Amino acid sequence: MLTAHDFPSAHVADAAGMDMVLVGDSLAMVALGLEDTSEVLLEEMILHCRSVSRGAKTAFIVGDLPMGSYEISAEQALGSAIKMVKEGRVHAIKLEGGVEMVPAISKITTAGIPVLAHIGLTPQRQNALGGFRVQGKSAAGALRLLADARAVQEAGAFAVVLEAVPAEVATLITKKLRIPTIGIGAGNGCSGQVLVQVDMSGNFPPGRFLPKFVKKYGDVWGEAKRGIEAYRCEVKERAYPAVEHTYPMAKEEFAEFER
Ligand code: KIV
Ligand code: NA
Repeated sequence: MLTAHDFPSAHVADAAGMDMVLVGDSLAMVALGLEDTSEVLLEEMILHCRSVSRGAKTAFIVGDLPMGSYEISAEQALGSAIKMVKEGRVHAIKLEGGVEMVPAISKITTAGIPVLAHIGLTPQRQNALGGFRVQGKSAAGALRLLADARAVQEAGAFAVVLEAVPAEVATLITKKLRIPTIGIGAGNGCSGQVLVQVDMSGNFPPGRFLPKFVKKYGDVWGEAKRGIEAYRCEVKERAYPAVEHTYPMAKEEFAEFER
């Protein structure tokens, strides 16, 4: 699974064979330049979901419910999920939380909308968690995570994202569940993995902080910058456009025009 936030990023994820594409609310930072995910609106997520759904023709598309669109009640959660499916054209929704989200997950899945749960480090709750830190590091914390995982499974989630969890804990939780786990910073014992596309493809300038679990598989930013700089130079030197980039005209026609 990989994130996408617009038509081209969805298109390339789909073309590269991703089973699932996630329109994560991390797009608040990587596509909108916001400080964190808390500002992004359901309407904005829906706009991005629409463009992703047009770009990813084969992958299963999951849309992230943003902070504030699902926590008030199960009814609010279902309303937002329906809006995201109908207007955003996604196949499923994701929401953050474990035991406390059971009513919302039950309500949404009963209505026929698949739910991907997300436990461990839940970035929408970063202020309550005391920042971006590993979850389930103590025996008691790991037990709470297992209880969350079991709760979302019983509520009907089709899979669960485990974010920033010790690998041993994620592996054991995966063994104890019937549904698949999708890890991010949770080791290779999960059923699947997810990463933010902008991070793994290297679509950011040098020096940016990256979480420990990210592997940079490409240099999209470097490649784009090289190309744009070459374009700038060639325009200044009048090397671009060259003859092959221009439309031809018959000599007689031009001669007549010149007269
Ligand atoms: O918003 C996001 O991109 C996510 C994934 C990292 C799981 O929630
Ligand atoms: Na998210």
